[in-house]
Amino acid sequence: MDFSLSEEHRAVQETAREFAQHELLPGILERDEKQQFPHDQVKKMGELGFMGMMVDPKYMGSGMDTISYVIALEEISKIDAAAAVIMSVNNSLVCWGLEEYGSEDLKTKYLSQLAQGIVLGAFCLSEPEAGSDATAIKTKAEDKGDHFLLNGVKNWITNGGNASIYIVIAQSDPDKGYRGINAFVVDKNLDGIQVGPKENKLGIRSSDTHSIMFNDVVVPKSNLLGGAEMGFKIAMNILNGGRIGIAAQALGIASGAHDLSIKYARERRSFGKPISEHQAIQFKLADMHAAIEGSRLLCYKAAYLKDKGIPFSKESAVAKLVASQTAMDVADEAIQIHGGYGYVKEYHVERMLRDAKITQIYEGTSEIQRLVIAREILKSI
Ligand code: CAA
Repeated sequence: MDFSLSEEHRAVQETAREFAQHELLPGILERDEKQQFPHDQVKKMGELGFMGMMVDPKYMGSGMDTISYVIALEEISKIDAAAAVIMSVNNSLVCWGLEEYGSEDLKTKYLSQLAQGIVLGAFCLSEPEAGSDATAIKTKAEDKGDHFLLNGVKNWITNGGNASIYIVIAQSDPDKGYRGINAFVVDKNLDGIQVGPKENKLGIRSSDTHSIMFNDVVVPKSNLLGGAEMGFKIAMNILNGGRIGIAAQALGIASGAHDLSIKYARERRSFGKPISEHQAIQFKLADMHAAIEGSRLLCYKAAYLKDKGIPFSKESAVAKLVASQTAMDVADEAIQIHGGYGYVKEYHVERMLRDAKITQIYEGTSEIQRLVIAREILKSI
């Protein structure tokens, strides 16, 4: 077992760190306040190869491993968790799904543009009345012979307003339950697609979240991902990988809040010395560090298993469950260490707490992660 990062991993870390400091930090308070999408920064992420990190270079991706992806996401999330989710959804939920399950024609048509960040992707599973209970989706994809007719509403769609390509999960045969579900690539240019208003969110405010309405959208049969009625399994497999990305986002929020806390604790003085010399603060910093280290190892382990082709659904759920709780706890303690300054926007940690919350909700709530973990461990004994 080797815990050291390779030269390539270190280079990714350095590039992502520099990018986050120089391109994401400036203007972050304003983007958060005004819910401004980071268009220029996303374009730059595409140029740096961060929008299709694991995609085969044949489709203009970076051809890197999932550990590199975790490393880049951690660095970006330390500064800007909203930019990180834009990147994560494009990489894990769209590029990966398309590369794994798409036909050669679909990959040629869409994947290289997505991998370069020229266009953005979104993943449409959740609905107004089907979030955690994903088998209950109602969006219909009626088989009309040479095409599917798509009707329904999808909710909470990250990148919903800016994406040009959607992966849509829809029911084609309700009598078969989840075994009647299909997954499609849907081009936003098709007639009958309407994007709802942008949600006004607690955190990750500069990412855009919308509902999307499909009204008699004619989707060519050739846009089907995987085999017929494989859609639910495809969605679950895509989410298994996506959870590594969200775990890495949570890890980054935690380590960003920790870095700021160390810096502040060294500068701020009370009772005649820097607060970093008070044991009350040292214990907090040590607990934060321990939880972050644990989360990072869990992220790396899930990524390692995925790269080796070993089943990793339990490990990605564990990584997301632990890292998202760590993000909440560490951001909370970071505010405590900063005192009153932590409660105002200029010191960033209040945003980090707001950003952390969503990591316990999207791509499967913490309760769903526990369910996935429990089912796996009960199977294994
Ligand atoms: N990996 C692979 N297959 C899985 C799986 C997993 N993690 N979980 C379930 N499956 C398979 C099962 O094996 C089963 O197939 P078989 O019958 O062939 O074995 C099938 O899927 C149905 O599973 P269950 O019978 O277990 O169904 P269930 O209803 O009891 O539980 C669930 C399903 C695990 C709760 C699932 O609905 C789930 O994961 N829900 C959470 C959905 C989610 O994460 N939504 C996030 C929305 S996307 C998002 O947030 C995107 C964004 O923009 C950021």
